[in-house]
Amino acid sequence: MNILIIGGTRGIGRELVGLLAKEAGNRIAVTGRNEDALKTIAAEYENVNCITHYLTNSDCGNSLIKKFAELHLSTVDILINIAGRLTSRDFENFDEDEARRIMEVNFFGPATVIRYIKPLMPKGSHIVNISSMGGYQGSSKYRGLSYYSASKAAIACLSECLAGEFAVSGISVNCLALGSVQTEMLAEAFPGYKAPVNAEEMAEFIADFALRGHRFFNGKILPVAMTNP
Ligand SMILES: NC(=O)c1ccc[n+]([C@@H]2O[C@H](COP(=O)([O-])OP(=O)(O)OC[C@H]3O[C@@H](n4cnc5c(N)ncnc54)[C@H](OP(=O)(O)O)[C@@H]3O)[C@@H](O)[C@H]2O)c1
Repeated sequence: MNILIIGGTRGIGRELVGLLAKEAGNRIAVTGRNEDALKTIAAEYENVNCITHYLTNSDCGNSLIKKFAELHLSTVDILINIAGRLTSRDFENFDEDEARRIMEVNFFGPATVIRYIKPLMPKGSHIVNISSMGGYQGSSKYRGLSYYSASKAAIACLSECLAGEFAVSGISVNCLALGSVQTEMLAEAFPGYKAPVNAEEMAEFIADFALRGHRFFNGKILPVAMTNP
């Protein structure tokens, strides 16, 4: 299985890399900006290729495809968009640049990646987009997370739209709306808050869903939370 993980240098994505790399026959490509983290990952796993990649670059689709070709990677059976940016700030205090950066990392970047990677995805492949309970329709909304939650709602809706469009190509698209998970992102945004789930536990669920979920779901936004958030 060829698996592309967008945003696997830390947190849940990093745990996913470790879990999926353990399964014999998997060939993994992982992206992120942190070159030291990518070097460490490359040294740890023989079957993992690391790609330095910024979702905020305007040519983030082209640059990914180029690096992919250089690594002689030609197909993707599973694409997991798990990179994310969270800034907690009251709506009136957002400057335009940060608001747009959140949308780029959480929505435009993954959308561009999907557009460029789709031609490499054979029939029976699976795209898993990672959203948040904050972006799940009807969930409780939290102060400070307006742009973050809106960006996560956008990627969730895109998943539904693309499932319809890609059905003819045999590509399934699903979206997991996660509740809180104990990671650096969460700790940085909400110091002192203790999430009920850790990164490894959530990664186990996502890995299993990415490998098998498309036999049961397509075009679904699934809440993955014991509580809200
Ligand atoms: N933790 C939670 O409570 C929670 C709850 C709901 C949803 N989620 C979602 O789950 C996903 C993983 O969360 P996490 O807590 O594991 O986050 P994290 O530890 O902050 O990891 C985020 C990943 O995104 C990558 N990334 C960030 N900005 C990027 C950019 N501009 N270009 C390319 N890559 C970028 C980071 O890599 P580099 O730093 O190397 O670029 C990192 O690998 C996110 O989408 C998040 O929104 C998390």
